[in-house]
Amino acid sequence: MAGYHRVESLRRALAEERAQGRTLALVPTMGNLHEGHLQLVRLAKQHCDLVVVSIFVNPLQFGLSEDWEQYPRTLEADMARLEAESCDYLFHPEEKEIYPNGMADQTRVVVPTMTDILCGASRPRHFEGVTTVVSKLFNIVQPDKAVFGIKDYQQLAVIRRMVEDLCLSVEIVAAPIARDEDGLALSSRNSYLTTGERPRVTVLYRTLCWCRDQITQLGRRDFSVLEEAAAERIQEAGFRPDYVSIRNARTLDPAAHDDEEMVVLGAMYTTGARLIDNVTLTLG
Ligand code: PAF
Repeated sequence: MAGYHRVESLRRALAEERAQGRTLALVPTMGNLHEGHLQLVRLAKQHCDLVVVSIFVNPLQFGLSEDWEQYPRTLEADMARLEAESCDYLFHPEEKEIYPNGMADQTRVVVPTMTDILCGASRPRHFEGVTTVVSKLFNIVQPDKAVFGIKDYQQLAVIRRMVEDLCLSVEIVAAPIARDEDGLALSSRNSYLTTGERPRVTVLYRTLCWCRDQITQLGRRDFSVLEEAAAERIQEAGFRPDYVSIRNARTLDPAAHDDEEMVVLGAMYTTGARLIDNVTLTLG
């Protein structure tokens, strides 16, 4: 695996590959790689000749009171994992390489409206940081395809919208959610969980599945009643719900009774983390 931390040298190497007719898949990450990330890399390998993984803990997408400083940075272990997956290129830039003019004056890419709801409501400007850095990575790597996890459902929807709205020539590939045996969605932030709360946090996934089953098996369409009941279940398990919301799977608008593709999204706070998860459902 070839490692680069400078934009220009990565660009030169990738231009060479493209000139040889090889296709490129990008897997953007913030490092601290777990099985979920490795599944993204494997999927990327199925789609293109070469895989480029980026590792950058992007300060622009963290709020002032969020965990940018404590976010786990495990570059050595990440590199060993990527080598084992036969990843071809690793891009791990310093902050000044991505934001040479500083963050305050950085040109931003903003997807309006759908970034103000759900996670965007409790993390103002988070998605602006994501779409800005992802645009930069797309411009640096110029991949044919880019792989994102469905676990970050809203992020995936926002990136798809950005690609569509800005006519970007990259195909977005969605990777299924990787889960622990008890259902907990894999996430770097799971390392913030205490041993006491770890067995109980599966309440988030179980609750989302419960909502889905109420809709698919019992035919319920009283979505706001379901959302309230779901939040109560999370609270009863000892966690603070941020939201449970039933939405149109594509637009993220509140689900309508005749929607056929829906997603139930949830977020909750533990002592040291904010966990998110989702389940999709198809009717008809
Ligand atoms: O999902 C993530 O890890 C990040 O939001 C991403 C897409 C790498 C952008 O920093």
